[in-house]
Amino acid sequence: MKNSVAAHYTHGQLLDRILGGVEAIDKTPATVTVDELAPVDEFHIGGRQASEDFISQLELSTNDHTLDVGCGIGGTSRFVASRFGCRVTGIDLTPEFVSTGQSLCDWVGLSDQVELHQGDATAMPFTDESFDAAFMLHVGMNIANKAGLFAEVYRLIKPGAFFGVYDVMQTSDEPLTYPVPWSSVPDTSALASQEQYMEALEQAGFDIVKIRDRREFAAEFFAETHRRMEQAGGSPPLGVHLAMGDSAPVKISNMVENIAAGRVSPVEIFVVK
Ligand SMILES: C[S@@+](CC[C@H](N)C(=O)[O-])C[C@H]1O[C@@H](n2cnc3c(N)ncnc32)[C@H](O)[C@@H]1O
Repeated sequence: MKNSVAAHYTHGQLLDRILGGVEAIDKTPATVTVDELAPVDEFHIGGRQASEDFISQLELSTNDHTLDVGCGIGGTSRFVASRFGCRVTGIDLTPEFVSTGQSLCDWVGLSDQVELHQGDATAMPFTDESFDAAFMLHVGMNIANKAGLFAEVYRLIKPGAFFGVYDVMQTSDEPLTYPVPWSSVPDTSALASQEQYMEALEQAGFDIVKIRDRREFAAEFFAETHRRMEQAGGSPPLGVHLAMGDSAPVKISNMVENIAAGRVSPVEIFVVK
C-alpha cells in the first residue's frame, strides 16, 4: 500500500507549478513569504485557517522541538516554525513532497529551523522522547496500521507532551464517492471512525484530552472558497489544487459531497502522553 500511496501523491512537476503560481502573484523564491505560500502548502480541509486554530491548542513555545507527522510539502511545519519560533522536524512518505518542501524552506529562509525527512510514519528514524509536541494533519486516512502509527508517536514524544490529530474520519457505513484528495480508489484509503482512532490512541498509551468535529467549519470553508472562485472566475494561482493534479476539481467536489452526505467529517483529537 505504501508505494501506491506515494504514487497517488506524486505529481512530477510540483515545484515548477508552485514557482509558476509564485510568479503569477508577482513574487520570486527570494521574496515570497510563508503566509503567501499557505494557500498551496497546507494540504488539508480549511488550509491555514484550520492550522491556526488546531495548532494554537498545542500551546507551543519557542524552545519546543515539534514533530509534523506526514508533513506533505511542509506548510504546517513552516507555519509552526515562523509563528511560534519552534524547531520542527517533518516526515513524509512521498519523496517529491519532501524535496519540494525542502526547496520551499530554502525560499523562505527556514531551512535552519525546519528539517523535512522522507520516511514512513509507522517507523520513524528518530530518538525516543526527543519531541516536545507532535501533530498530524490529514494523514491517517492513508495508514491502515494506526496502532503502529500511534505507538511510534508515543515513543517519540516526552512524557506530558501533547499530540494533535486532524484527520478525515468515517461517520457512516455508506461507501465514499472516489476519487478524493487522499486516494483515487478504495484500496489506498484507510479511513477509520473517531471511535477507532480513540481506541488506537488509548492502546498506544495516550490519554484523550479533547475532541472536536469540524464538519460545520468544513462546510463554511468550502462555501467561502466556492464564492471566491466564482468572483475571481477560476482557481487562484496558488492553491491546493496544484498538488492534486488534473483531477483536483473532481477530488474536491467529491470531498464536499462526501462530507455533506454525512459519510466523513474532519475531526480533531488531542491526546497527552
Ligand atoms: C493530504 S496530505 C497532508 C499533508 C500535510 N500534513 C498537510 O496537511 O499539508 C497526506 C500526506 O500523508 C503522507 N503519508 C501518507 N502515508 C504516510 C506514511 N505511512 N508515512 C508518512 N507520510 C505518509 C502523504 O505522503 C501525504 O503527503
